[in-house]
Amino acid sequence: MVGLTHLLAKAWLLPLVYGASQSVIYSTSAARPQFTIPASAETGAQLIANIDDPQAVNAQSVCPGYKASNVQRSSRGFTADLNLAGEPCNAYGTDVDSLTLTVEYQDSDRLNIQILPTYIDASNASWYLLSESIVPRPQASLNASVSQSDFQVSWSNEPSFNFKVIRKATGDVLFDTEGSVLVYEDQFIEFVTALPEEYNLYGLGEHITQLRLLRDATLTMWASDDGTPIDGNIYGQHPFYLDTRYFKANEKNGTYTPVKSSEANASQEYVSYSHGVFLRNSHGLEVLLRSQNLTWRTLGGGIDLTFYSGPTQADVTKQYQLSTVGLPTMQAYHTLGFHQCRWGYTNWSELADVVSTFEKFEIPLEYIWSDIDYMLEYRNFENDPNRFSYSEGEEFLSQLHDSGRHYVPIVDAAIYIPDPNNASDAYETYSRGAAEDIFLKNPDGSLYIGAVWPGYTVFPDWHHPKAVDYWTNELVIWSKKVAFDGIWCDMNEVSSFCIGSCGSGNLSLNPVSGTTLPGAPGNIIFDYPEAFNITNATEAASASAGAASQAAATATTTSTSVSYLSRTEPTPGVRNVEYPPYVINNVQDGHDLSAHAVTPNATHADGVQEYDVHSLFGHQELNATYQALLEVWSGQRRPFIIGRSTFAGSGKWAGHWGGDNYSKWWSMYFSISQALSFSLFGIPMFGSDSCGFTGNTDEELCNRWMQLSAFFPFYRNHNELSTIPQEPYRWASVIDATKSAMKIRYAILPYFYTLFDLAHTTGSIVLRALAWEFPNDPTLAAIDTQFLVGPSIMVIPVLEPLVDTVKGVFPGVGHGEVWYDWYTQTAVDAKPGVNTTISAPLGHIPVYVRGGSILPMQEPALTTRDARKTPWALLAALGSNETAAGQVYIDDGQSIYPSATLHVDFTASRSRVQASARGTWKERNPLANVTVLGVDAQPSAVTLNGQEVSSESVSYNSTSQVLFVGGLQNLTRGGAWAENWVLEW
Ligand code: NOJ
Repeated sequence: MVGLTHLLAKAWLLPLVYGASQSVIYSTSAARPQFTIPASAETGAQLIANIDDPQAVNAQSVCPGYKASNVQRSSRGFTADLNLAGEPCNAYGTDVDSLTLTVEYQDSDRLNIQILPTYIDASNASWYLLSESIVPRPQASLNASVSQSDFQVSWSNEPSFNFKVIRKATGDVLFDTEGSVLVYEDQFIEFVTALPEEYNLYGLGEHITQLRLLRDATLTMWASDDGTPIDGNIYGQHPFYLDTRYFKANEKNGTYTPVKSSEANASQEYVSYSHGVFLRNSHGLEVLLRSQNLTWRTLGGGIDLTFYSGPTQADVTKQYQLSTVGLPTMQAYHTLGFHQCRWGYTNWSELADVVSTFEKFEIPLEYIWSDIDYMLEYRNFENDPNRFSYSEGEEFLSQLHDSGRHYVPIVDAAIYIPDPNNASDAYETYSRGAAEDIFLKNPDGSLYIGAVWPGYTVFPDWHHPKAVDYWTNELVIWSKKVAFDGIWCDMNEVSSFCIGSCGSGNLSLNPVSGTTLPGAPGNIIFDYPEAFNITNATEAASASAGAASQAAATATTTSTSVSYLSRTEPTPGVRNVEYPPYVINNVQDGHDLSAHAVTPNATHADGVQEYDVHSLFGHQELNATYQALLEVWSGQRRPFIIGRSTFAGSGKWAGHWGGDNYSKWWSMYFSISQALSFSLFGIPMFGSDSCGFTGNTDEELCNRWMQLSAFFPFYRNHNELSTIPQEPYRWASVIDATKSAMKIRYAILPYFYTLFDLAHTTGSIVLRALAWEFPNDPTLAAIDTQFLVGPSIMVIPVLEPLVDTVKGVFPGVGHGEVWYDWYTQTAVDAKPGVNTTISAPLGHIPVYVRGGSILPMQEPALTTRDARKTPWALLAALGSNETAAGQVYIDDGQSIYPSATLHVDFTASRSRVQASARGTWKERNPLANVTVLGVDAQPSAVTLNGQEVSSESVSYNSTSQVLFVGGLQNLTRGGAWAENWVLEW
C-alpha cells in the first residue's frame, strides 16, 4: 500500500513525466503540434468507498450522540443546547462537543431545523457554513407560529437526543431520528430518519435513476463530470426529496391507514399526503436509502433542514421554490423551438449548410449551436480566425437572425493560461483576469493550474469580489464580435483533467491537449444502440470487429500503475480536505475527490477551500453568466442559459441539459426521470441530447427520441465528436417522425409558454409525473415511462427497439377521467389500472389530451417567429361532466419586464366555449377555429357572440363526437382575444 505522502507528491512530479512522453495528438483545431497530458496525470488515489468497505466503522455503533438541555421556547419554536453524551468517537473527523439546535416554525407550511456548532473558534476555524449570499436560507414569515403550523416537533433525550416531525393533520411521523445517534464532526455529519415500509421518495439529484427512488441505493452528491453513469453522482447537487404517502381514510373515526402502492388498486379511492425535505448543504453528501430508513451523511457544513408540508406535490414544489430556492427564470418564447447542435461542426459554412438543410426538408429549426469547435485552440471567448472568423460570423449570424433563428455557443468554465515565455501565445482573457487576480489559488497562494481542452488552465474564483465583473466584461467584449443569443455553460463541476495543480511550473508546455479526443486513433467510436446488430447486422459486425481490434491495440500500449491509499485516520482539529476520513462513493476513478475536478484544497479569495463549495461552482457560474447576459443585452432580453452543473436554486438563472447521455435505449428511458426530477428541483427548462450523445445512434433510436424530446421543454439534438451525424434529416423515416411530433409541439407552443409563465410566477411545474397529477392513485407512484406536459397532455413514448406497440395506463379512468387520442380525437376506451396496449409503429408517438382541458394553439411553422404570426385555434376536450377549462399567457416573448401582457381564460360546457381576456397586449392574429371533443349530439346552429357561423364551416362527426367550427377569422378580424366571446351551439 502506498502512503499518503507519496500520493500527495505525485501531482507535483507530473511535469517530469510529461517531458518524457510528449506525443502529438489529433485535434480538430490545433494549429500547431500539441502534447497530450498522459492518462496517469488523471489517476488519483484509489480509495475504498466507505459504503463498500467491510472494515469501515459504523458511526451509529460507536458514537455517543448528544443530550439536549437549556430548552428556550418562543412563539416560533425553540432552541436547545446539545452536548456530546459521552466520549468523542471521532469516527470520521473531530466530534463537536457543543451544538445549538434551533427549531423554527417558519410558516404554516414550513419548518426549519438547524443544528450548528455553538462556537466557531480557533479549534474549528476552517468550519464552513454555506454562505447565505450564495444559497439564501428560507426566512420565517411574520405571522409564523407554533400553533399555526402544519407540523409538530417532539424530541427526547432517551437514549440520546432524537426528534420527530409530525404532520398534525394525520398524526403521521414524517421524520424520526429515534433509534439512531446524531454524529456531528468537522468532516462528517450523520443523522438517520425512519421511513415507512415501501416509501415513495423522489428527487435527491442529480442521478440517472428511476423516478421513484430505489429503497436500496446510496445516492452520492458531489458535482462530477462523468458521462451519466446509472446511480452515480453526476453534474448537479440537489439535496431535496419529495416523500409521498398514501392512505385509506377512515371517515368514521378520522384515522388514516397507510397503503403500500404495491397493494393498491386503481379503481379504489385513496388519499395521499406529500411533504418535502431540503438539506441546505454544499459539501460532499451521501444519502443512504435503505428498506425503512434514510441516512444523511455530509463531509461538513451544518444541518439546515427545511420541511415543506404540501400536502400535494404541486404544493410542496411551490413551497420549496417560493420560500427557498426561487422561481425559475422565464424563458424567451423562441427557446421553446428546436435546437440543433453537435460537437464537430467545424466552420461557419457547415453551420449554414445544416440550417439550409433543415429548410430544404422543411423541418422547424430555431437555434443552431456551436460546441468548442469554434474556439481558437479551445480558448473561451476567442474564435478560430480560419474557421469561425468574426467577419464571416457576422454575415452568417445576420442572415440567421433575419430568418428568425438564433445562435448559442458553448463557454467552458476553465480559462487557458498561456506560456509566459511565448509572447505570441498571449491571451487577453487570461491577462485581464490575472490583472484582477481573480483565479483560484493553491493553498500557498500560487495560481491553481489544472488542465481542460485548451491545455493548462486556470479557473475563475466566484468568491472573488470582481469575478462576476470579469466574466461580464469577457462576454460583453465577445458579444460585440459574435452576436450570440444565449450561452451554453459546460465543464463547470468544475472539471479538470489532471490531479491537482498539474500545470504549475509546466506552462512552457502549453498548448497541451487535455485529453485524447473522441475519434482520435485509439479512441474511434464503434458503439451503436442495443438492437443495431439486428437491424443493421453487417454494419454491426464490422463495428464490433473494429472495437475488438482497437481494444487489443490499446490494451498493449496503455498500462496504468494504480496506487492504493490506506484509510485516512482523523487527526483531532485538523481537516484533511483532499482525503477526508469518510470516503464518499464519488463515481470518479478511485473515488478520489480530486479526480477529474479541481482538487479540494484549491483556495478561494476569501480563504474558503474548494472542498466546502465544490458543487457550487456551476451554480455561481450560471449566476455570473445571467448577470453578464443582462449586461450584454442591456436588460432588454431574457438571458438564455443552459448549464451542466446546477445546485438548488440554479433554475433562477438557467435551464439544464441531461449531460453526456448515451445513444442507447436505456438512456432515452432515463431521460424522462431526469426531466421529472428537475421539475421538482425548480429547473423546468430541461432536455436531453436527443438521439444520444455518446456513441453512434441509429435510425430507429433517433426516430423515437426525436419524437419523445418534442415534448420536453428544452428540445435539442446533440452528439459527440466523431460519431455519425444525427440531424433529423439524415434518415427519411426520422424526417417524417420529427415533423409529425414537431407539428404537435409547435401547435401547442402557446400552451408550453403559458406553462412556463405559470412556473415562473407560481412555481407550478411543466413536465409532470402521473403520480403528481393524480395524487390519489398509489398505482401510479413509480410510473416513469409516460408523463404529462402540464396538466393536459399525456405522452406514452416507445422506449425499446423492434416494437410497434407500447403499453400505458390512463390515469383516473375509473373515476371519470377521459383521455382523447391526439390524432383521432376520440375518447380512449381504457380500464382503470390496466396496462393498455397501444399501437405505436415507428414514427408514431402516442399523445393524449385530458378531458376537461382547453388548449390554445397556433399553426406550426419553420420558426416560432412565423408560428406566432399564424391564426389561433382552440382544442376543447370535454370531461365526463361536459366541462373544460384552460388559459393562455401572451407577451412579446422576450422582455424581462414586458410592457404589455395578456391572460385569456377559457371555459367550456355542454354547448358553449367562452374566452375572456385581461391585459394590454394586443394580439392581432385572428381565431381560425375551435374544435370540441366529446360533443354527443349534432348541433343545429353555431354562433359566435350571437353571429351565426356559416354551416359550411361547421362539421360534426357523430362517431368520433368531434365538433369542428372553422371560418372564424372573419368574425375575429381584430384579433382572437380582442373581445371576449362565446361560441354556442
Ligand atoms: C462535454 C459536454 O457535456 C458535451 O455536451 C460537449 O459536447 C463536450 N463537453 C465538448 O465540449
